[in-house]
Amino acid sequence: VDTLVTSARGHGVGVASASQRGEPWPNDPYAAGTAVAERYRSLRALLAGELDADAVVATLKDSGLRGMGGAGFPTGQKWSLVAGAQPGTVKYAICNADESEPGTFKDRQILADQPHLVLEGLLLGMAVVGAEEGWVFIRHEYGPEEHVLREEIAALREAGVIGPDACGSGRRLELDVFVSPGGYILGEETALLECMEGHRGEPRNKPPFPGNYGLHGRPTLINSVETFADVPVILQRGADWWHEQGLGDSVGWKFFAVSGHVQHPGVYCVPMGTTVRELIDTAGGVLEGAAIEAVQPGGASSNFIGPDKLDLRLDFAALAEAGTMLGSGAVVVLAEGTDLLAASTNVLRFFRNESCGKCVPCRVGSTKAHTLLTGVLDSGAGLDEAGRARILQLEEAMRKTSICGLGQVALGPVVSVLGLAKGGAAAREQPKPGGAKDQPDR
Ligand code: NAI
Ligand code: SF4
Repeated sequence: VDTLVTSARGHGVGVASASQRGEPWPNDPYAAGTAVAERYRSLRALLAGELDADAVVATLKDSGLRGMGGAGFPTGQKWSLVAGAQPGTVKYAICNADESEPGTFKDRQILADQPHLVLEGLLLGMAVVGAEEGWVFIRHEYGPEEHVLREEIAALREAGVIGPDACGSGRRLELDVFVSPGGYILGEETALLECMEGHRGEPRNKPPFPGNYGLHGRPTLINSVETFADVPVILQRGADWWHEQGLGDSVGWKFFAVSGHVQHPGVYCVPMGTTVRELIDTAGGVLEGAAIEAVQPGGASSNFIGPDKLDLRLDFAALAEAGTMLGSGAVVVLAEGTDLLAASTNVLRFFRNESCGKCVPCRVGSTKAHTLLTGVLDSGAGLDEAGRARILQLEEAMRKTSICGLGQVALGPVVSVLGLAKGGAAAREQPKPGGAKDQPDR
């Protein structure tokens, strides 16, 4: 794996261009420093009629590309649904860059280093589904990345790639950036739409999905940053090439944000199907050579896995089979001695704080569970059978009755550690650097 990996090691997260880093990301078909006039090749071909919209969708379907925001919906299928929805009506496209899951920062690196791929993917999506206007909905803390995007959009307008006569095709394609007013839940696609319409940012019931009823009730194509960035790569290099990049049965490249108790936290682009162990080794291994207590392989929404699962492939199917998920591409590593109940309660605290409050089970259930667990942690006595039963009951109620993913998964990580945790006060006596209970309550 080492020979295939490009990392952001030593550069942290932020605006570090590929040329500064001296290690171009392995997926990028455009050499670092390529001028705008030389980029956006697939878009130009599509607008010139050299590439057919149906062929784009067919290639995406052949590639097996799935949504990289977390849920993994097949991208080609989504594009074809939006293209076919309400023919003749106004449509929109939105890139969801409201990346806010704890431990998740890989989209930030992609926006900083590869804005041309993100915007080409978005523009291709607009051209394929028949949208004239597209937005990047970006997290408000991502100021440097917003700046990079605005500069790239200005360069595109200057070069005539977008505007009233995009690439001389007679088609209008306009792009803009919408800065999120803040709040984790706005990354949920329908809360995002409510926010853009000027309403309170609360999720809608689904269905209808945004592909049919999106912004202002119009069919709207929404994909995440990484998904859009993958599209021009696949179109330039072909679906077969994309398949060959993955390991085992997996396809393509995948960006991961690795954090927690590792030597070199950062963003890594590795073949899909790399194992959890290989990725952790790529990030320099565990701090001070410690053993692993548990790993959250797919962001705060994903269930923890134990050290016996380190040879699992990082892939949609393999992680789902193991009872967790690929999720938001955030791998959080906890070293031996970390109190897993405290760590998972910390995750729950985040969800409790970020619940929009629209549904009672999520609003009340997350608060009840958090109160119970912090009481247990403060007492140092461990979770007894009655407490365990109460948590399981709350988890089931929230999972089955909350209308969006936040409430459905909020207690999942806690329940997952009930099976893993050695628990008890002994574990809590050996906190590791950056361990749990470091997030201030509010
Ligand atoms: P979802 O399964 O409801 O939808 C996934 C996508 O497929 C959506 O765009 C949806 O519109 C579309 N879709 C699903 N079924 C469809 C159908 N029948 N017809 C047309 N379109 C359809 O999942 P959701 O709630 O959008 O995303 C949940 C994921 O988001 C979680 O797995 C979590 O990992 C991830 N997440 C990521 C965060 C981040 O910061 N990157 C933050 C929070 C959650
Ligand atoms: Fe809001 Fe929670 Fe309901 Fe989602 S599940 S809509 S976050 S109250």
